[in-house]
Parts: sequence; structure tokens; C-alpha cells
Amino acid sequence: MSDHARTAAVVLAAGKGTRFRSDLAKVLHRAAGRTLVGHVLEALRPLGLGQVVVVVGHQADEVAAAVRAAAVPGLTTVVQEEQHGTGHAVQVAMPALADGIDRVLILPGDTPLLTAPTLAALLAAADGRTAAMLTARLDDPTGYGRVLRDADGDVAAIVEHRDATAEQRAVDEINAGMYVVGRDHLDVALGQLDTDNDQGELYLTDVVAILAGKGEPVAASVTSEDEVAGVNDRRQLAAAAAVLRRRHLDHLMAEVGVSVTDPATTHVDVDVRVGRDAVLLPGTILEAGTRIGERAVVGPNSHLTACEVGADATVHSTRADQAEIGDHATVGPFSHLRPGTRLGVKSKIGAFAETKNATIGDGSKVPHLAYLGDATVGAGVNVACGVITVNYDGFTKSHTTIEDGAFVGCDTMLVAPVTVGAGAFVAAGSTLTEDVPAGALAIARARQVNKDGWAARRREQHGA
Ligand code: UD1
Ligand code: CA
Repeated sequence: MSDHARTAAVVLAAGKGTRFRSDLAKVLHRAAGRTLVGHVLEALRPLGLGQVVVVVGHQADEVAAAVRAAAVPGLTTVVQEEQHGTGHAVQVAMPALADGIDRVLILPGDTPLLTAPTLAALLAAADGRTAAMLTARLDDPTGYGRVLRDADGDVAAIVEHRDATAEQRAVDEINAGMYVVGRDHLDVALGQLDTDNDQGELYLTDVVAILAGKGEPVAASVTSEDEVAGVNDRRQLAAAAAVLRRRHLDHLMAEVGVSVTDPATTHVDVDVRVGRDAVLLPGTILEAGTRIGERAVVGPNSHLTACEVGADATVHSTRADQAEIGDHATVGPFSHLRPGTRLGVKSKIGAFAETKNATIGDGSKVPHLAYLGDATVGAGVNVACGVITVNYDGFTKSHTTIEDGAFVGCDTMLVAPVTVGAGAFVAAGSTLTEDVPAGALAIARARQVNKDGWAARRREQHGA
């Protein structure tokens, strides 16, 4: 869409978001794993605009960093030191526009449900005209600016809810806060704004009446309600996040071929990818760039953050963070995979097993009640019930190595640093403080003593 090379976007993201009652700038709050301003930038990406200027102000450095992370081509930020309204924000942005730009697409940073086709339609509505804006008809238009049309159906003015008369408030067509305006006309109109309104701010919305007054009517592109919802408080944030999650699940079900047993209890962030024929069972939460392979079964009740799950793996009732789970591996129920866990093909991590910074080789099994931290476990290893890597002495962390084919018996303490050689056996109940050579049996526990008849003598002493 390189025909938009002479159009720049100006994204308004300098406001505090007072209605959020938050110490974090509103546009940095996340919905379905992405910041509000990040969602807006993603909607812009496919349009191929010549430039994207983001106006930052409140928590400018943090917002600018989030904006840069989106890595949209042609991106710059400008700082609006004091926030005197949406019109003021655009005034601050104008000097940053590049030479070749002749048209400006203005949009707020708090409308995460917006999609690229809606913006493309708005740009098309402005073709051959000075300006166009996006509107929608809402069942409950409370809080939004109302669209006042003239006899020809063009927009004559926008009046803010708080400045509107009862008659104007009855209008159900609202201003989505998105406009396309020719650069020169915008420049002139911005210079004519005043603060004659309830908030004493420079309202961008007044540009519409200024243009209409000059015989440059503003066309309206009407879109659906769920594209334009502005997120001004936390209830609206939750509602928008639910829509975003549902859209992503619909995409996974309809276009990829993923089974989602219960969409209502399945939370999948928008940047999570899931393979064909995977199954997401109820209570599954997939966050921050998680990848799920084909035919994998995740859940019920698994919470994965930044994880890589291989094809045909199962991950049942598990918490995992920054873990790689190999093809055909089985995890859970009730496993805890902490950062740096890498599980090999066909490996198994079972109930109440915890791993951290641990590589578990292909086909190795840790079926129950174990802690493996700072460990390298080879292929075909059996780690029996109750095994613990004693990796921390109160001062430093040390590493445990268990080589291919070893068998570590139940309730073994591996006091690191320690190595169990390939094919070795460790007797149950051992506390290993020394390396075990390959192929050896290690027994590191007190020898058993049996005292014949002891129990009867004891009972007699107590008259039992
Ligand atoms: C605005 C519109 C309203 C429209 C609604 C759509 C105005 C005066 N009103 O109201 O007609 O129905 O959006 O959602 O434009 N911002 C700045 N600098 C400022 C002030 C705001 O960058 O000085 C940014 C905010 O961070 C936000 C965006 O502009 O991302 C919109 O501001 P907000 O206060 O949310 O405007 P609304 O009251 O929602
Ligand atoms: Ca808003």
C-alpha cells in the first residue's frame, strides 16, 4: 500500500489517563499481552504510511520505549511537555512531519480494538477531499464527542459530551477520535483553536467545525462499535481485552485449526502462535510470545509465559515460564518449570516436580516429587521420586550433571557440584557429595541394622 507514502500518522499518547487511577500511563496498560499504544501501532503497520509520529508526554521515556519496541517503519516520537488537550498535542507534532508528507492521519493511543481495514476505509473516504473522520453509532454514546451533521450529511461540528446540550447528547453517532486531514489545512485550522470549553483545553475536535466553516466539509466514515472503543478506565480495559482475546481465539480456531474447548476460560495473548490440531483445554493461559506446536495438548489449567512447546507435547495443570518443552514431551499435572528449563524429545516431568536452569535430555523421566535446579541431565535418565539437586549452599549456586542412561534412586540428595557418570546407579536414599564414575553403583547412606525381637521387648516394658 505504498500509495500512502505521503500520509503520516500522528498518534496521541501523551495523556495521563486520570480515569485509570494509576501510577502507570494509560497507554502502557496491557490488553491481551500488548500495550494499548502497541495495539494502535499494529493497526497502522499494514498501511505502509510514510511516517508515524507518536506524541508522548506523561511518562514520556517509558511510553517512547514501548513505542520503539513496536518497531513500525518510519517511527518518531515528539514530547508534549504539558498536556493542553488533543488539539495541542497535534500542534506539537506538526513540526516533526517530514517534507514529502501532504496528509495526516490522527488517532488516539487508547483504542486497541482498531484494525487496519477500518483505517484504510477512512483514508479512502478522504480521497479527493480535505478531510474525513471516523464515526460509529453506539447504543450508549455517553462520554464520547457527538457528531453533528449538516443537511448534506457532511459533518458540521463535534461537540464533547460534557459541553453538549441535552438535544446534542441524544445523538447516537460518536466521534472515534480518528481523522484524515490535508496537511496545509490542518496547519491553518490548528492555529485557530481556542480553549473556550468546559476543560479549558485545545480540542482537536474543533478542527472539524473550522474546516466546515471554510466550505471544506468533513466526510464521515462510519464503522462498527467494537473498532472504536476508547479505553478510559479499567472496566473498559477489561472489556477491550476480552474482545481482543476472543478475536485471537477465533483466528486460531477458524484459520489455523486449533481446538479451544472453552473460549471463555482460555486466555491467549495476541502474539501467541499455536499450531494446527493443537488442543487448548479450559483454564489455559498463554502469555508473552509463547509458541505451541502442532497437535500439542495444553491444559486444563496450565499457565505458560514465553514458552516454546513442541509438537505432540502435553502440558497438564502446569506453570511454566521461559521453558522449552520438546516434541512428544509430557509435563504435569502440577509441575513447575522455571526459566531456563529445556526438556528433550519424549521427556517426562511429572507431579510436583520443579525445574530451573535445567536441561533434561531426550527420553529422560522425572516422574514425581523432584527439584532439579542448575542441572544438566543427559538422555535416557531416570530420576526417581524425591530426588533433589542441592544447588545452593547459602552463598553460591553449583551445577549437577547426570550423564546419559544413569538411574538416580528415590530420595537422593545431589550435593552440587557433583556428576553422576553415564549408566551409573545411585541407591535410594543416598546423599551424594562425590562424583559417581560411569557404570558404577553409588550407595551413600548409613548401613541398616535389624534387632531381632526388639519390638516385643519394648511392648513388654510398657505393659502393652
Ligand atoms: C476524545 C475526543 C472525543 C472522542 C474520543 C474518542 C477530543 C477533545 N475529544 O475524547 O470527541 O469521542 O476521544 O475516544 O479530542 N492526549 C494527548 N495530549 C493531550 C490530551 C490527550 O496526547 O493533551 C491523548 C491521550 O493520551 C489519548 C488521546 O489523546 O490517547 C485522547 O485523549 P482522551 O483524553 O482519552 O480524549 P477523550 O476524552 O476520550
Ligand atoms: Ca479516550
